[in-house]
Amino acid sequence: MTASVTVRVPAKVNVQLAVGGARPDGFHDLANVFLAVGLYDEVTATPAASLRVTATGPDTDRIPLDRTNLAARAAELLAARYGIAPDVHLHIAKDIPVAGGMAGGSADAAGALVACDALWGTGASREELLSLCAELGSDVPFSLVGGAALGRGRGELLTPLDVGGTFHWVFAVAEGGLSTPAVYQEFDRLHEGRAIPAPEASPLLLDALRTGDATALAPALSNDLQAAALSLRPSLTATLDAGTAAGALAALVSGSGPTTAFLTKSAESAAAVSEAVLASGTCRAVRVAGGPVAGAVVV
Ligand code: C5P
Repeated sequence: MTASVTVRVPAKVNVQLAVGGARPDGFHDLANVFLAVGLYDEVTATPAASLRVTATGPDTDRIPLDRTNLAARAAELLAARYGIAPDVHLHIAKDIPVAGGMAGGSADAAGALVACDALWGTGASREELLSLCAELGSDVPFSLVGGAALGRGRGELLTPLDVGGTFHWVFAVAEGGLSTPAVYQEFDRLHEGRAIPAPEASPLLLDALRTGDATALAPALSNDLQAAALSLRPSLTATLDAGTAAGALAALVSGSGPTTAFLTKSAESAAAVSEAVLASGTCRAVRVAGGPVAGAVVV
C-alpha cells in the first residue's frame, strides 16, 4: 500500500479578469484568462484514523485546519462520491500567499483531490476530477489543469490557451489578505445603477499570449476587480506605482488581491524590479515567478 502521496500545485495570476453583472445565484459571469505561475503549494495525503489537516509556511495561522479548509472539503467530496471514509491526513506545505488573489486555497483543493485519488486508488477520470473541482470553487478547475486557459461561466468552464513563451513576473505580497466575496461586493457597489457589458476575452491579449510577446501583453492586461480591491485597500496604489517606477512593463492587482503583479521583460528585469519594489517599503515581501507552468502533478 502507498504510504503517502504528494502533489505540487501552482499559483495563478489573472492576465485578464473581465467581470459581468451579478447572476441570480450571486456569482458573476466572467471572461477569466488564467496563467499558472511557478509558486507552489504541496499537499501530502497520508492514511490516518480520521480526516486531519496540518499546514506549514508563511501565514498558515490564518488558514482554518478544520473541515472548512477547502482541501478537507475536497477529500470529503471525493470520498463521498466513491462511498469510502475520508480517513486521511492532509499536510499543506504553503508557499502561495494566503488569501492573496493567487488561488492558494484552490490549489490546495485541487492538490488534495489528486493526492487522495492516487492514495485511495479511486481512479477518477479527468472529467470527474474537473467536475468535483468546479463544485469546490470557481478557480479550482484551473489549479488542476494549469498552463493558461480562458475560464467562462463563473470561471470554471475552461478552454486551454496556447502560449508562445515564458512570461516573467514579480509578485508583491501585501500585509494581510482580502476576502474574495468582499471584493465582488465592492465591485457591485461601485457599479450600482450602471449597465455592465457581457465579459469578453481581449483578442489582443490572446494574440500576445500566443506569440509569447511580453511587450504586447503588457498593455492588454486588465482586471475589472482592481478598482474594488484598491477601494478596499488604497495602499496598494503605492505598490503598483513602485513597480511601474522600477521599470515593470505593467502592474496590476492579482485576481481579488491584495497581491500585486508586475510583468517584466526578462528574468534579469524581474530580479531588478523585485528588489526595487521591496526597497520601496510598500509591501511585505516579493516573489519572482515565470509562467505558464503545469497544473497539479504527483511528485
Ligand atoms: O467560487 P468561489 O467559492 O471561489 O467564490 C468565492 C466567492 O467569490 C463567491 O461566493 C462569490 O461571492 C464570489 N465570486 C463571484 N463570481 C465568480 C466567482 C466568485 O461573485 N465568478
